[in-house]
Amino acid sequence: MKGLILSGGFGTRLRPLTYTGAKQLIPIANKPIIFYGIESLVRVGIKDIGIVVGDTRDEVMSVVGDGANWNINIEYIPQESPLGLAHAIKVAREFLGNEPFMMYLGDNILKDSLDELVKQFKENHPNALILLTEVDNPQEFGVAEVDGKGNVKKLVEKPKEPPSNLALVGIYLFDNEIHKAIEHIKPSWRNELEITDAIQWLLDNGYRVESQTVKGWWKDTGKPEDIIEANLLILQDIKPDNKGEVVDSTLNGHVVVEKGAVIEKSIIRGPAIIGQNSRLSKAYVGPFSSIGANVTIENSEVECSVIMDGATIRNLENRIDRSILGRNVVINQINESPRTHKFILGDQSYVQIIK
Ligand code: G1P
Repeated sequence: MKGLILSGGFGTRLRPLTYTGAKQLIPIANKPIIFYGIESLVRVGIKDIGIVVGDTRDEVMSVVGDGANWNINIEYIPQESPLGLAHAIKVAREFLGNEPFMMYLGDNILKDSLDELVKQFKENHPNALILLTEVDNPQEFGVAEVDGKGNVKKLVEKPKEPPSNLALVGIYLFDNEIHKAIEHIKPSWRNELEITDAIQWLLDNGYRVESQTVKGWWKDTGKPEDIIEANLLILQDIKPDNKGEVVDSTLNGHVVVEKGAVIEKSIIRGPAIIGQNSRLSKAYVGPFSSIGANVTIENSEVECSVIMDGATIRNLENRIDRSILGRNVVINQINESPRTHKFILGDQSYVQIIK
């Protein structure tokens, strides 16, 4: 079985972070989101993965590489523009051949292993196997109507009036009939070849579509609050490991300190991760925080946030909470008169000041 990971798209809902980088490379617990997908596929024995890339292809290729890190083969398949998930399969046709494959959306993170999914596919040989989960906002996803036995009856993409609260998770298993289905569908209102329409075509033409429901949590990291939430969920299972230098400081709970990090006169409450060569002094880092590499935090407090590589936070009076700071961001409080704010913020940056 081959793997197909989708890593195109513009990531508009994650601006400004996605102006300078691919959304699939945003770090969750200091690891690019797409690595979680690759590792899930590797764990079920997939050794041949195609990654569909768009505008951000150079960055994705340089971070992910050729697969040697995981002892697998990774190939890159360019998609000229994000014309839909079914379109991505179309451009990957040559790579996929006639083999069955698992398609994994590069911005999805799933707690469960994919073992059960692969097992059901191998035992029952459906033409498509989809993964479903209950959500509060089905309007924002592909939605399935399922009968009492778990058989899929109907699929709709982002319905205004959802037939159920069962969303399609971005992980699918297909045999080669999906290629025929894709030949028959037309672009949707958002001008995309929708995978939901292709699966609906399979249903309408007598092919077998089965489903499985996610047991653990699942996150589609499309929006900033999803990044904070995914980071929180991943950190929940982190194992303590200290490879840095900790001086006159307290580490509570599960804390990972990576190589070269120096923590002095600080309090770290896990679960949290402090990246390579970061320097924390008189800092408080609270639960569910991921601090990247080469970050400086001095005399300031951070909680439940994702602070990316090279950021600097100094002398902040108020705690930073549920925030995302991109690479090399500087926040510096200077206690001088006149007490003004000075901002140099990129397009669509967001600042909230509570007094
Ligand atoms: C895509 C699919 C949708 C699915 C979702 C899961 O949506 O079209 O059916 O529920 O991924 O992440 P998109 O991210 O393109 O809005």
